[in-house]
Amino acid sequence: MKTYYITTPIYYLNGDPHIGHTYTTVAADAMARYKKARGFDVKFLTGSDEHGQKVERAAEEAGVSPQEFVDGLAETFQGIWRLMNCEYDFYQRTTNPAHCESVKRIFKKLYDQGDIYKGSYEGLYCTPCETFLTKKQAEGDKCPDCGRPVAPISEECYFFRMSKYQDALMAHYDANPDFLLPASRRNEMLNNFIKPGLEDLCVSRTSFKWGIPVDFDEGHVIYVWIDALPNYVTALGFLSDDDSLYKKYWPADLHLMAKEIVRFHSVIWPCILFALGEPLPKQVFGHGWLQYDGQKMGKSLGNAICPKALVAEYGVDAIRYFLLREFTFGPDGNFTPTALVNRYNSDLANDLGNLLSRTVGMVDKYFGGTAQGGGGNRLPVFEPLPSDSKPDAEIDLIAMAVAMPAKVEERMEKLAFSDALNEIWNVVRRANKYIDETAPWVLAKDESKAAELANVLYNLAETLRIIAVAIAPVMPNTPAIIREQLNITDATLTKWDSAKTFGLLPRDVVVTKGNAAFPRIEKK
Ligand code: ME8
Ligand code: MG
Repeated sequence: MKTYYITTPIYYLNGDPHIGHTYTTVAADAMARYKKARGFDVKFLTGSDEHGQKVERAAEEAGVSPQEFVDGLAETFQGIWRLMNCEYDFYQRTTNPAHCESVKRIFKKLYDQGDIYKGSYEGLYCTPCETFLTKKQAEGDKCPDCGRPVAPISEECYFFRMSKYQDALMAHYDANPDFLLPASRRNEMLNNFIKPGLEDLCVSRTSFKWGIPVDFDEGHVIYVWIDALPNYVTALGFLSDDDSLYKKYWPADLHLMAKEIVRFHSVIWPCILFALGEPLPKQVFGHGWLQYDGQKMGKSLGNAICPKALVAEYGVDAIRYFLLREFTFGPDGNFTPTALVNRYNSDLANDLGNLLSRTVGMVDKYFGGTAQGGGGNRLPVFEPLPSDSKPDAEIDLIAMAVAMPAKVEERMEKLAFSDALNEIWNVVRRANKYIDETAPWVLAKDESKAAELANVLYNLAETLRIIAVAIAPVMPNTPAIIREQLNITDATLTKWDSAKTFGLLPRDVVVTKGNAAFPRIEKK
């Protein structure tokens, strides 16, 4: 079976998770579920970045030990992933002893081979970003990434000989145009960092304690990014006694993150892997920021939206849908409560919710009881119309429905989540239009039209079955609601490829009326 290994960043534990964090994890989860549906052997990693000066300070402010502090927040983050229905295979914590052990080995190996050497660092440091900056980079003593003030530091430290890997990195970018996407980020990295020349990187700190110690030089702790980046391989047992997972799943197929940490993943991390003689991840994708009032949503700006309240009000599938449908994956997107309510009401309450309730409602109404030979809410079975006598609307609906999964695949492979969902919703809207075109309420008045009516309702039910398959990666709970109301229990009818054939649902559809899947929300 083909493997697929996908990762999110491991999030800093210096505050509660917000909807910006969930953006990456939900995208990764949707991708992981999609790949599983396509038959891949998938591994999905997320986790937490628990060392460093920033976390140490946050613990101090909270008045607890760093370990207690991160233990609590690791729980909180994992609770949010359960809430968001994100099903990862690894939750890697950088305080995990096995991780620490592997990172020490990596550091020692690079030191022994001469890729890490001792020196001293004189320059600027942005603690919120945990980034070393030159005077030129930090113009006006402000961090170019987050805009906050930087502090001068002067420390004895170890350096990683990154400059040595300049040519290898350049050659890798040349040979792999899709290594870093979107193209705008690739150009930025090439022009601003790689082509001007890589500088050696400071990789240890001596002014605080909360980190993995350099075991051959007391007083030094490993720079938090050199501790964090290898989590993607330490989770697989790299440099441990059992590296079978590493052999099987590395290199990763996709590292997902937002743009501000692309440099760490597409410049520093590849150089570490070059130095270790290990293969590079196949792809790094840096999406944009979820903004609020035009500013990056974040812990520090006080504009963080908590996922719990949103999920309580809209349901988890609606939030997952909104995140991936509303914003193009790549550029920044502005989060507004109005956009959420509008998207919910139009796409979920009106389009999908109504399609389901109208279909189920009509089968129940017209074939419930004993009316028209039905009974027990079961559609009477008539032979489907021969294809040369199908009305245009039916031909069109069926053609669109069966062509949709391939279109979704094409979009998903490019991480174009919004386009993929739009392809599905084209079918949802086509099906609603089909109801208006066929006017089942008119057919229902004429007993001689019972076969025609049953055929229309069958086509709607079968279209909903196909839609349920296609939405599952993004909306893991909704398919069960659709299937319950249409009494679909046969697992073969839930498989990805089954959505490419129309007519697999047995014609004697049985419905069970249920609650509205997405009750309309009135604007406040
Ligand atoms: O950078 N919009 O952790 P972090 C979109 N520990 N995505 C957002 C976001 C927003 N407003 N806010 C956060 C770190 N994210 C390091 C990573 S990896 C080896 C170490 C997401 O807690 C996005 O994926 O600051 C971003 O890259 C990540 O959270 C940064 O999380
Ligand atoms: Mg950050």
